[in-house]
Amino acid sequence: MARDLDPTDASELTTTDTWRALAAHYDTLRDVHLRELFAQDRGRASRLTVEADGLLVDFSKNRITEQTLTLLIALARERRLSSRIDAMFRGEAINVTENRPVLHTALRLPRDRSLIVQGTDVAAEVHRVLERAYRFAHDVRRGNWLGYSDRPVRTVVNLGIGGSDLGPAMAYDALAAYRDAGLECHFVSNIDGADIAGLLPRVDPETTLFVVASKTFTTLETLTNARTARAWLVERAGSERAVPRHFVALSTNGAEVAQFGIDPTNMFDLWDWVGGRYSLDSAIGLSLMIAIGPDHFEAMLAGFHAMDEHFRTAPFERNLPVLLGLIGIWYGNFFGTQTHAVLPYAQELHRFPAYLQQLDMESNGKSVTADGSAVTYATGPVVWGTSGTNGQHAYFQLLHQGTRLIPADFIGFARSNFPLGDHHDLLTANLFAQTEALAFGHDGPEGEPFRLFEGNRPSSTLLAGQLTPFVLGQLVALYEHKVFTQGWIWGLNSFDQWGVELGKVLAGRIAAELQTDSEPPSSHDSSTNELINWYRRHR
Ligand code: F6P
Repeated sequence: MARDLDPTDASELTTTDTWRALAAHYDTLRDVHLRELFAQDRGRASRLTVEADGLLVDFSKNRITEQTLTLLIALARERRLSSRIDAMFRGEAINVTENRPVLHTALRLPRDRSLIVQGTDVAAEVHRVLERAYRFAHDVRRGNWLGYSDRPVRTVVNLGIGGSDLGPAMAYDALAAYRDAGLECHFVSNIDGADIAGLLPRVDPETTLFVVASKTFTTLETLTNARTARAWLVERAGSERAVPRHFVALSTNGAEVAQFGIDPTNMFDLWDWVGGRYSLDSAIGLSLMIAIGPDHFEAMLAGFHAMDEHFRTAPFERNLPVLLGLIGIWYGNFFGTQTHAVLPYAQELHRFPAYLQQLDMESNGKSVTADGSAVTYATGPVVWGTSGTNGQHAYFQLLHQGTRLIPADFIGFARSNFPLGDHHDLLTANLFAQTEALAFGHDGPEGEPFRLFEGNRPSSTLLAGQLTPFVLGQLVALYEHKVFTQGWIWGLNSFDQWGVELGKVLAGRIAAELQTDSEPPSSHDSSTNELINWYRRHR
């Protein structure tokens, strides 16, 4: 009989009856071909397709049976996933290493809802900031926000990195069809001067607004870029007085914002209960909001909220994020897959895989559980991908005939935002063709093994009517909750990122060593010492 796991202790995960049953089930299924599974069950596709608010996921080309799902769902129940979902939505401090609630779902609560956490109505707080941001976005869009020479702002430059860049940058491209043609946004993230140096000559200081997006306002890359942008502006405007009209900040850290010289009235706040990689819906989305307008931004929030409600209320058997998460565990922990491809057949989503890399890999790229014990099983996969059909002419060879098993999500739409001749039919034909070829393969001609496609390569197909702001919100929330599901089953804290700290500390030390000509460094390993020396000689 399966027993309940201690939900705070995942160390028992692989010794439970359900895990063992999954391992035994894997032994019976690992050599079964998708061809057989489809031949045995004519209703397989419809039985294994789930839809929520117009977003449809066909799971049938995965190497699963109904028994697989039954066992995976039993695992989720043993881990008491439902109560964990409730705890997140209620605002419990589930980010245990930082002792914080995790409330990105509150960022998209409708206006008439309230959510009291530690005595504060966080939904009211969210809407207070949203209203301010909407007013600001309207001002910029209507040409009422004037630069130092009284010309309206026409260019917005978001200076941020990680979650303060990838979300708005991804969504800006994803929602290209919804943008105001009279405004353009740029996203500068890299500390490599080539990033900002490549942009500044192309923008007009009189009409450019810099949005300094940094939750902590201590991030080296962002502050370095912001200082460069500030100096550039002041030099061109001839006065520091230009700064308040050309710089706004998105942050939790009012003191650092003021220290930098941005007027606190030009700061839009967020809260420490919003993780950077979950912050697109907060003030961090300001540049996107300016580009697409508050109405489209609200539609995107509604899509997020629809997926939140689905995740919170749908039974696991029909719950899209739970199913995606569990099937990912099936591949990673039983088939031993190492990576997961996300392949949007929509050019506008070309930055979606990069966005998901941070979401997934910064959340679940961990090898100790939330209580600090070492895991004894694989956790988050390497997430990667590009938009279709480009990958087909690059790396799909390996997906079809390589030695590695790579589960993939294909994402497509019934209608294009940019209808043009038969482009969209041809694009979609390619999507369907790839999933068919991967699953079923093809016997090559006798004596030509290089033309054999074995097939049995799994994929899920995600389809929606059109890539609208609402659908983008659904898609992002789908993956957020998939990551949550997996993280909780693996016993991780998906909401901290201690693994990025060491590199920051070492870079600070090494930066000082690169910039002096004193003694050759000796405090590092011999490789690092030599690299620093080489750089000093050649810089
Ligand atoms: O270093 C990693 C990280 O903290 C991410 O988690 C975050 O999204 C990014 O840096 C940027 O942080 P901030 O918004 O505080 O500048």
